[in-house]
Amino acid sequence: TADSAQSPKELFTVNSPNVVYTDDHIKSKYIYRTTAVSKSADGKFTATPKETTYDFQVDRKVPKVGMMLVGWGGNNGSTVTAGIIANRRGLVWDTKEGRQAANYYGSVIMGSTIKLGTDAETNEEINIPFHDVLPMVHPNDIVVGGWDISSMNIAASMDRAQVLEPTLKALVYKEMSLMKPLPSIYYPDFIAANQEDRADNVLPGSKASMAHVEQIRTDIRTFKAENKLDKVIVLWTANTERYADIIPGVNDTADNLMKAIEQGHEEVSPSTVFSVACILEKTAFINGSPQNTFVPGAIQLAEKHDSFIGGDDFKSGQTKMKSALVDFLINAGIKLTSIASYNHLGNNDGKNLSSQKQFRSKEISKSNVVDDMVAANSVLYAKDEHPDHTVVIKYMPAVGDNKRALDEYYAQIFMGGHQTISIFNVCEDSLLASPLIIDLVLVAEMMTRIQWKTESAAEYKGFHSVLSILSYMLKAPLTPPGTPVVNALAKQRSALTNIFRACVGLQPESDMTLEHKLF
Ligand code: NAI
Repeated sequence: TADSAQSPKELFTVNSPNVVYTDDHIKSKYIYRTTAVSKSADGKFTATPKETTYDFQVDRKVPKVGMMLVGWGGNNGSTVTAGIIANRRGLVWDTKEGRQAANYYGSVIMGSTIKLGTDAETNEEINIPFHDVLPMVHPNDIVVGGWDISSMNIAASMDRAQVLEPTLKALVYKEMSLMKPLPSIYYPDFIAANQEDRADNVLPGSKASMAHVEQIRTDIRTFKAENKLDKVIVLWTANTERYADIIPGVNDTADNLMKAIEQGHEEVSPSTVFSVACILEKTAFINGSPQNTFVPGAIQLAEKHDSFIGGDDFKSGQTKMKSALVDFLINAGIKLTSIASYNHLGNNDGKNLSSQKQFRSKEISKSNVVDDMVAANSVLYAKDEHPDHTVVIKYMPAVGDNKRALDEYYAQIFMGGHQTISIFNVCEDSLLASPLIIDLVLVAEMMTRIQWKTESAAEYKGFHSVLSILSYMLKAPLTPPGTPVVNALAKQRSALTNIFRACVGLQPESDMTLEHKLF
């Protein structure tokens, strides 16, 4: 029965009759407390506290994991690979500012902490690394692989990206020069025409086919076997594609999508073909770009196969600031009336986005990011009222990966006054995106080892196929069909933290700190 021995890797155990540790699992009984609200005819509300009991079961065995990147040879792909190698080897290199050691800054899992509780004697806060809340994979142990339409090895790709210091590159060059991306699927109509000259590593065929689906599935299996992996997670960090039209009979249902791929329909994108291959292979697939990879048929297919998907579009710089700042403004009771967002960047992503159809995908994903915060405040905004919001992106080769984001927030304050906040954000885009790739993979992997059931159910099952828990890292979070999208950064983080806490039977962190107020 229960053996409460702590695995050597686990930093804490929970001492509660509702939590049981076995060799293989952490099992917890968790009371989920919510408030049910009903509205009467006179417009008044009745709020009723509600309790639901869930059983959670966390698999304690940390698997050996592979991460396969689509677009491995891109700026993000080569940067995250070098970053993992540098951390694994504990590298230190010279820069003009002195010695720099490898780190995981910018990863919420590896770089941030959560409050576990308060010291039983002193009442001081005890904070622990996020990574230690559940038995998670360490990024240093991840084996990296993937595909690219460009045949360049990953060391040469790292040079092409112009992101990392030459002294660091020299230390990882040899290892990375042996890394070669697998040939990928290339349907020229989906990415900008200006990408054509790098497409020298492509599978035959320029529209969707079952042969492509099968090849990707084989690639995943081979990678898994060759590296003796327990599990693979696939992540799209390839170019932004144009939107696919949603056509009844083609991509609206799982069966139609499979038929469309068999028949080589031209409206099925490479990223959708990758997602289908992963779903059939029961391999979690995350989309880091803005296009609508997950057409309704792909979502339905994932649900049918109980396979995990997540997306869309890494939330790294401008949008992350926006979802924090707007959350603050509107929750402070300040009426935001417009947001003007200008970007210029000079990397290959910028070059691809200089094409109108691909820019449109990005514009859509960047535009809806304040909707939930506006809709939640009926004091400031009438129904369907929105702040003005515009997004501009320009390609400026000279600035390379050092993206510039200029944002002006204009708001109404007390008694007709105005507040203007202007932000100028400069950073290497790929150094912000790489830790997000790591977080997405670590959290998605963790979710494959968490199961739940209601008290009366006989069997445990997994979370819904659409992993909305990944929202914190994503600009346009995909959620299970019919469920709301949360963009507010603080809410996204507390969902992540508190779901992890619930899995080990801990209550949400309420920040009430009554122990410091009532004595
Ligand atoms: P990149 O252009 O340097 O890399 C993309 C790579 O994908 C290239 O090496 C290209 O050859 C490859 N590729 C294109 N189509 C492919 C296919 N069908 N199969 C396999 N490989 C393919 O771009 P970067 O900067 O690495 O960004 C990657 C994606 O992440 C872009 O879509 C970008 O919009 C998105 N993104 C990046 C953010 C950031 O860097 N901070 C933030 C949000 C999203």
